[in-house]
Amino acid sequence: MSKPKYHVFICGQTRPEDHPRGSCGASGAGAVFQAFAMQLTSKKLLDSTVLTQSSCLGPCHLGANVLIYPEGIMYSSIKPEDVDVIIEQHFIKGEPVVEKFAPADVWS
Ligand code: FES
Repeated sequence: MSKPKYHVFICGQTRPEDHPRGSCGASGAGAVFQAFAMQLTSKKLLDSTVLTQSSCLGPCHLGANVLIYPEGIMYSSIKPEDVDVIIEQHFIKGEPVVEKFAPADVWS
């Protein structure tokens, strides 16, 4: 196995519907994971990109959250229709999609 260029963690945490924190699972994280898997496969990028479903990444109310290394960039409120631009712009062109960054205060 060659060293991956990107490692993508997609929060797949679920919680009961009435839980006050909400969850990425309830915000469509499963469909986001499937969109990444399908598009990375079709673009033949699975040799250079590792896809992992994670547990909670922190900002549950902003789900679905996607954390990408090596940069440590978190994308928030991601929907399946956002995945193509992340792959094309970030992974292929090397230009992260600033418009989809998590708010800066997520990290404070
Ligand atoms: S449930 Fe996804 S960040 Fe907490």
